[in-house]
Amino acid sequence: MKLLLTGVAGQLGSAVVDLAPERGLDLAPVVRAHRPGRLPVDRVFPQLAGGIVTGDVRQPSWGLAEAALDELAATVDVVLNLAGDTDWAASARDLYATNVLGARHGLDVARELQRRSGRRLLYCHVSSFVVAGGALGSIAEVPLPPDRHRTQYEESKWVAERELAAAHRPGDPDVLIARVGALLGDSRTGRTAKRNSLYVLSDRWRDLPGRVLPAMPGARVDILPRDVAARGLLDALDGMVRAGPRAEPVIVHVTAGERAPTLRNLLETARSIAPGAFGEWVRLVPASAERILWLSGNAQRFLPLSKGWRNRVIGLRYIGLDRIWERGRLADLVAGPLPAADPEVLARLTFDLPAPRPPVAPGDPNLARFRP
Ligand SMILES: NC(=O)c1ccc[n+]([C@@H]2O[C@H](COP(=O)([O-])OP(=O)(O)OC[C@H]3O[C@@H](n4cnc5c(N)ncnc54)[C@H](OP(=O)(O)O)[C@@H]3O)[C@@H](O)[C@H]2O)c1
Repeated sequence: MKLLLTGVAGQLGSAVVDLAPERGLDLAPVVRAHRPGRLPVDRVFPQLAGGIVTGDVRQPSWGLAEAALDELAATVDVVLNLAGDTDWAASARDLYATNVLGARHGLDVARELQRRSGRRLLYCHVSSFVVAGGALGSIAEVPLPPDRHRTQYEESKWVAERELAAAHRPGDPDVLIARVGALLGDSRTGRTAKRNSLYVLSDRWRDLPGRVLPAMPGARVDILPRDVAARGLLDALDGMVRAGPRAEPVIVHVTAGERAPTLRNLLETARSIAPGAFGEWVRLVPASAERILWLSGNAQRFLPLSKGWRNRVIGLRYIGLDRIWERGRLADLVAGPLPAADPEVLARLTFDLPAPRPPVAPGDPNLARFRP
């Protein structure tokens, strides 16, 4: 299977690139020409060097040249949009250009490749669990209604989903909308492409004002290591290809779902792994959903917050609310197990805690039998 994909240098994209050889995937990455301050993608991933295409998701047809479209049409099976502006405090204009227009233009690219090739294509747009806005309880894998609690970032991801559903016509490429949960680094190496998402909170854990954290009792943190999420996403793509044509876009949650740890469980696990790593412990203070949502959505109107702190305050809603992202539709699509990770792995990755040291054999051979 050949994927034309954006966002390879990002957190999720890097994991897809890592998995490509074992999944037998051929990748054609779309990369911006101008990426100031970043290593060129062909230096980060030398294996992709021959297949890189220049483009920008904010441009119509992702800015792909005619000749590139002709060449890609012959071989591409799936268009996968992993590009996004993931700064929760970015301007509405920037969020719209990358997250909404990028999604729409991706469908146009898939349409164009399908037209030129005469083969049925699949378009997968990566959305986010945050489209839930302020919803609580079970979040279904269906289009979601308007919600006054959404932040501008959440709104951009939600509008993108709506626009894709509205733009989809009979005969168009099949569309998969994958709402991904919060991403951590690689489960084996801990490597991260960026310290975005919930790292914005955990990196400044020691600086949380007042050492208190408002959260609903039973609040859950839907996080996955990036490799686990990427595997779930690719399983869903395989499932879509197996299932054949779909009249409407399919929405799935590539999340930890019912396996997501509670916030309390995650924090207690972290503390039990490395009791000395945290200094003064952060206390969970029971708070209503309304308070958490209001605080995380409005604090910048009253407090002079830097961009970093705006991101952190917004992040409170992703760890403080009691809700579960359902995975029934994902289960219908994928043949194997659903994405999941051990809370200990999640706690280590979240707080960069050291990996467990293998037990050292005692020098005295008579005592060696007591080794664990
Ligand atoms: N990280 C999370 O916890 C999380 C959770 C749920 C959903 N998601 C979704 O998953 C997707 C990937 O997230 P991520 O965390 O991997 O993102 P990321 O680490 O911030 O990387 C974003 C990627 O998008 C590319 N990109 C941004 N603007 C672009 C443009 N105009 N044209 C082409 N490429 C562009 C970036 O390219 P450059 O290298 O050139 O900057 C980068 O490779 C996003 O849609 C995000 O909303 C992420």
